[in-house]
Amino acid sequence: MNIIIRHSYEQISKYSAQIIANRVKSNPRCVLGLATGSTPIGTYQELVRLHKEEGLDFSQVKTFNLDEYLGTGIDLEKPYSMDQSYARFMHEELFKNINIKQENIFIPNGLTKEPKNFCKWYEDEIKKAGGIDLQILGIGRDGHWGFNEPGSSLGSRTRVVALTEQTLDDNYEAFYKNANISREQMPHFAITMGIGTILESREILMIANGSKKSGVIAKCLEGPVTAQITSSAIQLYSGEINVVIDDEAAYELKNTHHYRHMEKMNKQYGL
Ligand code: GLP
Repeated sequence: MNIIIRHSYEQISKYSAQIIANRVKSNPRCVLGLATGSTPIGTYQELVRLHKEEGLDFSQVKTFNLDEYLGTGIDLEKPYSMDQSYARFMHEELFKNINIKQENIFIPNGLTKEPKNFCKWYEDEIKKAGGIDLQILGIGRDGHWGFNEPGSSLGSRTRVVALTEQTLDDNYEAFYKNANISREQMPHFAITMGIGTILESREILMIANGSKKSGVIAKCLEGPVTAQITSSAIQLYSGEINVVIDDEAAYELKNTHHYRHMEKMNKQYGL
């Protein structure tokens, strides 16, 4: 695991965007797994800048989003401004600002009438695309990736899940309060890729910032592997891992000295 610690949100966003840009440049047809939440916004802004100012080309890139609230999505009959879906989030923060093709964008359909069939279809589409080359991840305060709440099996696949009270609180504050949607009205269920699905990707980039994440980052990276902190499955992952975090999120880690040393050594030896 490469654990990269930087002082500011801006620095981790630029570093993360650079990893993604490098993969897109070396494989223009790469398949990216994308995350939502406030954490990757800076990374997406930097990708947009790289596209506009340096011509980073997304025309052949395919993307699969991690998750979506059930009961939300692109519904053209609803006023767009009221839609708090992740589909809208992705459109606003990234897709409308780069040259990705609409047909190459995959996001779980929160409006599906047949969630079970949809989840199977989504898994099949990931396989058809050749699997995910680089999965971008944030982390929830309860340790989740996507919406894999505590108690999700570490082998789980794309499926419908109920959200925990803590996740509802966090996402209400971040995304629903300002849209004048009450906590009762916000969706309490979601479709998420499973931990097993995520672990099949070929590379992981996990990003975290701020003191709110320091406890869970320490549990995820240095605690026991447990279904109570589903992202702790990262410790079993076999592909390349970059964890990019700021000083505040790194605050409760015990081995930061070693992680910084490893980063220097890796650079020195071109690893
Ligand atoms: C949501 C998303 C996760 C995300 C998490 C953290 O629950 N489903 O994919 O990692 O929020 O969000 P934030 O980055 O806003 O802290």
